[in-house]
Amino acid sequence: MIFLETQRLLFRPHEPGDEADFIAMHTDPEVRRYVGGQPWPLEKAHDRFRNQYLGQPTETYGLWATILKDEKRYIGCCGLRAIEGGTSAHLGYYFARPYWRRGFATEAAEAFIAVAFGRLGLLKVVADVEKGNSTSERILQKFGFQYVKREEIPGSGRVILSYELPRSEWKHELT
Ligand SMILES: CC(C)(COP(=O)(O)OP(=O)(O)OC[C@H]1O[C@@H](n2cnc3c(N)ncnc32)[C@H](O)[C@@H]1OP(=O)(O)O)[C@@H](O)C(=O)NCCC(=O)NCCS
Repeated sequence: MIFLETQRLLFRPHEPGDEADFIAMHTDPEVRRYVGGQPWPLEKAHDRFRNQYLGQPTETYGLWATILKDEKRYIGCCGLRAIEGGTSAHLGYYFARPYWRRGFATEAAEAFIAVAFGRLGLLKVVADVEKGNSTSERILQKFGFQYVKREEIPGSGRVILSYELPRSEWKHELT
């Protein structure tokens, strides 16, 4: 089942063949630098894949396996997480390092924002970014996300910046 497709990417549930690329991505310290700060140990990456990702998502919300159409290869996971109340969702995107800086996160973010406001009729998309993750902040700013607040994680020295995009600020056509 393909949930969503863009020019270069398609989004589907995680399959057994994605496991090695999933593990390589989450055990890479650069990938995890601003999302938890530590690479996942190998065992944790295996467990997470088998218990939380394999076969998931099944509908709408969750992080979809993100496949580069040209290479038919798993290169990351992206999607929307439901937020209580049902009128907004949280945007997330993770890509393997060899695929950075080719516009894939921008392409994925645009598609999922369109799903949120178009297909789902939500009123707001939100995103959290760790301070220092300027690439991710720039992507959000390109789509008109506004900075809302910052929150320090006690004892960690890490600061999480919250952004939001109200539907009224969304500049794109409904798809
Ligand atoms: C943050 C992250 C998602 C960005 O993904 P990405 O696919 O590299 O992002 P994009 O390519 O869309 O945009 C990043 C940069 O590449 C540039 N770019 C876009 N298309 C490009 C192309 N064809 N050639 C070269 N550069 C390009 C963008 O302009 C942007 O550059 P900028 O920093 O100068 O603005 C990725 O680094 C990642 O997965 N990091 C680890 C997990 C993570 O931090 N997730 C986000 C949590 S909030």
